[in-house]
Amino acid sequence: MQHYDVVILGAGAAGLMAAIAAGQRGRRVLVLDHADEPGKKILISGGGRCNFTNLDTEPGRFLSANPHFCKSALSRYTPQDFIALVDKHGIPWHEKTLGQLFCDGSARAIVAMLLDECAAAQVTIALGRKITGVSRADHFRIETDHGTVTAESLILATGGLSIPKMGATGLAYDIAEQFGLRLTEIRPALVPLTLDSAQLARTGALAGVSQPILARCGRAAFREAMLFTHRGLSGPAILQISSTWRDATPIMLDLLPDEPASGLAALKRARPKAALRSIIADMMPSRMADVFLPAPIAPNPIGSFTDDRLAGILAALKSWRLIPAGTEGYAKAEVTSGGVDTRDLSSQTMQARTVPGLFVIGEAVDVTGWLGGYNFQWAWASGWAAGSHA
Ligand code: FDA
Repeated sequence: MQHYDVVILGAGAAGLMAAIAAGQRGRRVLVLDHADEPGKKILISGGGRCNFTNLDTEPGRFLSANPHFCKSALSRYTPQDFIALVDKHGIPWHEKTLGQLFCDGSARAIVAMLLDECAAAQVTIALGRKITGVSRADHFRIETDHGTVTAESLILATGGLSIPKMGATGLAYDIAEQFGLRLTEIRPALVPLTLDSAQLARTGALAGVSQPILARCGRAAFREAMLFTHRGLSGPAILQISSTWRDATPIMLDLLPDEPASGLAALKRARPKAALRSIIADMMPSRMADVFLPAPIAPNPIGSFTDDRLAGILAALKSWRLIPAGTEGYAKAEVTSGGVDTRDLSSQTMQARTVPGLFVIGEAVDVTGWLGGYNFQWAWASGWAAGSHA
């Protein structure tokens, strides 16, 4: 039976970063994963180019029952730290929009970089390992289908439930619970929302149409693109608010966020003979105008409406209130929100308060980033925190 200083379950973003940090401290590190390849989610991320961090990283861009928890780790391993690593490996990158940094080429470069760093830090990575049990006496004892290993420290980095087809499992939650750690409510997040059949009868024909909108859900508001789908709504604005949406609650969509409330009255003076439909179709895809403008009034010249009536028409387009039927679930969710309760972890080290030597990092923890590179930044930062102490 082999003994290690640190065993890490999960060779994803967080696990590999923790392995690098611990290995660089001279710890004997073993990373175990049931997949046949490390960093599979990194490979498919950002459309294959990996949106590996966000320059605007700050604690307010992460959701958690304790919004303060992420502060310490994020401040000690920053986007600039990760950029320095990427630059050290000569990986070209660019800022796309909203502080989002992507590889110029393939996400494979990020995985290769992490594996190079692991190799330099003498980390052992064992793939295709089924974890069959974990227990603790003097040491942690990790049983696999390839035998048993023991460790001083055990880091849980198996992520959340998103994309089960890629091998996502609830192993980190199960082991955390086994050791008495609490879990918060777990839900699919950064996920398309579905509409019911009555709503789809109206919007289904718009599948593939996209429009910049302002989406609100409770206190969350995101001004980004929305995409109509055959099942409902997607696009960055919808994915963002899906993380705060709860069943049976309404969302509010401003379909014309750039138009001031009095915008139509001003256009009436400029183009009184233009059909209302043409005016609206200048502001949104014409197929959308056909769905969202009441058919009987659409062909009428804008000059035939009173200013008050125009204000009412615009207000309806700026405040589409709807209650989604649900989400597309873990099969389509980019992340899982909720997870191991941060009350049971140290925010400095990610170590369990009541189980010395047990650490939880990455998506398995109740910290969920916005869309746009924030989730990887959390994986790097929480992985670095644990690897620096395990
Ligand atoms: P991660 O899921 O990366 O790794 C977990 C590892 O544990 C995997 O290697 C898995 O095989 C292993 N594992 C799971 N269960 C196991 C078990 N029972 N036994 C052994 N091993 C097990 N984020 C971002 O910031 N920018 C982006 O561009 C994207 N893009 C993106 C696209 C898509 C399609 C998805 C699904 C997700 C993203 N994300 C993202 C989110 C990002 O991928 C995610 O937040 C991180 O990968 C989380 O890192 P972790 O290391 O915590 O888990």
